[in-house]
Amino acid sequence: MASTFSSLTLLGLLAHSLPAHASAIRTTPADPAPSPTYSYSSFSYTQMTSDRYATPLKSPLSFPTPFAPPFSKASTLLPANVTYTTYSLNPQATATPDGQYGQSAYAALWTNLSYSDSPPFTTTVSPTPVPTSELVFPPALPDQSTDQSNLTLPSDFIWGVAGSAWQIEGGLQIEGRGPSVLDTIGALGMSQGANDSNVADMNYFLYKQDIARLAALGVPHYSFSISWSRVVPFGVAGSPINKQALSHYDDLINTCLEYGITPIVTLVHADAPPAVIADVSNLTTHFLYYAKQVMTRYGDRVPHWVTFNEPNIAVGSMFSSYNDLTATLLAHAALYDWYKHELGGTGKITMKFANNLAMPLDPSNESHVSAALRYQDFILGIMSNPLFLGKQYPADALKTLGPNLTALTDEQIAQIRGRIDFWAFDPYVAQFASPPPGGVEACASDPSNPLWPSCVSLTNVQANGWLMGDASNAYAYIAPQYVRQQLGYVWNTFRPSGILIAEFGFNPFADSERSLDAQRYDLERTLYYQNFLQEMLKAIHEDGINVIGALAWSFVDNNEFGSFANQYGMQAVNRTDGKFTRNYKRSFFDFVDFFSKHVAS
Ligand SMILES: *[C@@H]1O[C@H](CO)[C@@H](O)[C@H](O)[C@H]1NC(C)=O
Ligand SMILES: *[C@@H]1O[C@H](CO)[C@@H](O)[C@H](O)[C@H]1NC(C)=O
Ligand SMILES: *[C@@H]1O[C@H](CO)[C@@H](O)[C@H](O)[C@H]1NC(C)=O
Ligand SMILES: *[C@@H]1O[C@H](CO)[C@@H](O)[C@H](O)[C@H]1NC(C)=O
Ligand SMILES: *[C@@H]1O[C@H](CO)[C@@H](O)[C@H](O)[C@H]1NC(C)=O
Ligand SMILES: *[C@@H]1O[C@H](CO)[C@@H](O)[C@H](O)[C@H]1NC(C)=O
Ligand SMILES: *[C@@H]1O[C@H](CO)[C@@H](O)[C@H](O)[C@H]1NC(C)=O
Ligand SMILES: *[C@@H]1O[C@H](CO)[C@@H](O)[C@H](O)[C@H]1NC(C)=O
Repeated sequence: MASTFSSLTLLGLLAHSLPAHASAIRTTPADPAPSPTYSYSSFSYTQMTSDRYATPLKSPLSFPTPFAPPFSKASTLLPANVTYTTYSLNPQATATPDGQYGQSAYAALWTNLSYSDSPPFTTTVSPTPVPTSELVFPPALPDQSTDQSNLTLPSDFIWGVAGSAWQIEGGLQIEGRGPSVLDTIGALGMSQGANDSNVADMNYFLYKQDIARLAALGVPHYSFSISWSRVVPFGVAGSPINKQALSHYDDLINTCLEYGITPIVTLVHADAPPAVIADVSNLTTHFLYYAKQVMTRYGDRVPHWVTFNEPNIAVGSMFSSYNDLTATLLAHAALYDWYKHELGGTGKITMKFANNLAMPLDPSNESHVSAALRYQDFILGIMSNPLFLGKQYPADALKTLGPNLTALTDEQIAQIRGRIDFWAFDPYVAQFASPPPGGVEACASDPSNPLWPSCVSLTNVQANGWLMGDASNAYAYIAPQYVRQQLGYVWNTFRPSGILIAEFGFNPFADSERSLDAQRYDLERTLYYQNFLQEMLKAIHEDGINVIGALAWSFVDNNEFGSFANQYGMQAVNRTDGKFTRNYKRSFFDFVDFFSKHVAS
């Protein structure tokens, strides 16, 4: 108010000092103006905010029948000679020869890793009810006329949010966790992010509050990952199992149910233990050792399992060779068979893929079409050919990778084929493909080419020079025009029974530099989600694609592999107030609102 008053005063002063010719203009005769009408005698104000509140979930949640036998029965499937123990890291302690898996051996796992950031608190925080003042809807969106509000989603549509252990938990050296490859590779080489991962969002201690906050908004599904190296600190088969990790994740799952949320559990989200990666040819043995501990205990309460997150882009980070993808497929398939036939699980199992669909830059140019197909072969075909189609790896991949990708034997294909209950992938955005400079052939025979092995040039700029959509702070764009093709490619190429959009999201440009109020208003992310989901509705209703669910990445800003500046969260986190306070952003309300309009009750 004060500044408005003073600028009006300033205008008044200027009017007094107007030169003579200016006042002459004012006195020039003009057409008589129509006489104005006024509808009030004294002005009244109207407050445009609505006090609409989010609807919390009904709780608790119980399933009509468990998805697997209770642990009392399932425990007979575990090896009899497993050691269950606890570890506590004391870097100052003198090493003692206490055996292969003693406390000294545990401390030695951490010799090369120290963190300058340490968790500000180290016990689980009791949840408190979310105040209603935090549950008020943001101002209505200006124009909702494109909403296909007559297109519905079934009541069992799997909608909700996703996150992953390393990116949110913190407390990496707490309660007996062992290191993971993400710790040792320093979050893709960024040491500040690696240090920060020891704190991250403090979700290891705040998980109850995080779950309470999802339930308060009415979010029915929460997809999270279990840290392998928490459960098996040394990683490998035969090594001890950490009792504190088992009770942590047991309570996490029970807390979901207590609040009415259905858990979706990922077993490996880029964070395998280093000892397993060093012995990757035995991946099946090590993975089953870990996964059986988890599934025998939690299988009764978990309807959906993801074995591996985005292994198809893990060569170069978690994996060093394309042949590790064969090991991954075989480990996945072995667990699938064990879950269905030994444990007798009735839940569903999938593996989730990264894929930003490559579209030809010029669809009328054959070489662009084949570049797009080639990219898709390298990114999806390698794992999905055997899993979904019972087919060999794509010929172009075998040819280019040579000894780095050994063809599957018929026996391996038979082991892998069909060991998956639905398709899951993370289609954040599409991109445009064309042949690389110098052509595909020259690149394919030159492993030092930065584009090797897929040998495709990719861009988000259309052939006519326009960006495909509004740019984020990373690789995503608001480009809903391609969503139906992203889904259609998968549907028609791999013919799954259903498609789960397991992650999708947008991190607004320079979001971390804005005020909390501005971050919370969050219109771009809302547009991304609303537009994407409208196109998903058309894919379902007009293209006949069976999309079974959509999970937003992410429910909270997190450590995007070394960076907290890439804010994909629908909640902000205050990382300096000592409490890691979360704040809902508008996109979270709009995301929930979309489904409350479209999902049949
Ligand atoms: C535990 O038993 C399995 C066979 O069930 C055996 O292969 C393994 O070597 C044993 N491990 C230990 C630590 O004794
Ligand atoms: C620590 O680093 C040294 C030197 O690179 C290496 O030899 C050793 O195996 C590492 N220890 C662990 C536990 O990773
Ligand atoms: C939904 O409404 C639009 C017009 O608003 C109409 O064109 C379309 O056919 C309707 N779809 C269904 C499935 O009723
Ligand atoms: C954390 O930061 C300290 C000090 O800068 C550094 O010595 C250490 O290596 C960092 N740790 C990781 C895991 O990057
Ligand atoms: C790992 O594989 C090698 C050979 O492939 C085998 O000798 C060894 O026993 C395996 N280790 C485990 C833990 O299965
Ligand atoms: C097709 O694309 C290639 C590679 O970008 C280009 O060299 C060629 O001129 C294009 N052909 C046509 C007919 O546009
Ligand atoms: C295998 O891959 C590596 C890079 O990951 C490369 O240096 C090597 O040349 C490749 N071998 C062949 C035969 O392509
Ligand atoms: C975080 O909390 C601190 C202490 O309460 C406050 O000063 C700061 O403004 C907050 N930051 C944001 C971005 O909300």
